[in-house]
Amino acid sequence: MALLPILTYPDARLHKVAQPVRAVDARLRALIDDMFDTMYEAKGIGLAATQVDVHEQLIVIDVSEQRDERLVLINPELVWASDERVKGDEGCLSVPGIYDGVERPAAVRVRALDEHGQSREIAAEDLLAVCIQHEMDHLKGKVFVEYLSPLKQGRIKTKLLKAEREAARETAERD
Ligand code: NI
Repeated sequence: MALLPILTYPDARLHKVAQPVRAVDARLRALIDDMFDTMYEAKGIGLAATQVDVHEQLIVIDVSEQRDERLVLINPELVWASDERVKGDEGCLSVPGIYDGVERPAAVRVRALDEHGQSREIAAEDLLAVCIQHEMDHLKGKVFVEYLSPLKQGRIKTKLLKAEREAARETAERD
């Protein structure tokens, strides 16, 4: 089991645009396992490769209660989005402690490769639809707070940068 460091907003690397995965091979499957370990450890329901500073189009998701339904999306493409929209509170492992409302299509269909390199189409609604869209945004370099007002974004930046400085100071004092 390997835990990967998660980038924290406003780290500029979260805005890099991910490139398509070229081969679903042993290297990629090892990365997928590490990303699931990292996501489960952090108690998240989704993680995009961008968040662990790998800029390839790879997403891992598990929205199940039992935490045993692994969903892997490689090179995902949006096929369809519903006109109906929903607004719900979102959080993000890269934006710790912040939850805020984002409006998105209520249902989507996405085509992607799975971890065996098989192409499949996934129809999603509710939490899964939101999660897939949130993670696909990460691959485009977009963090959910960018849907919020500039005022809120500014406050979130200030708060997270302060938390980072305090954590760094505590580490320095301990060493
Ligand atoms: Ni996120």
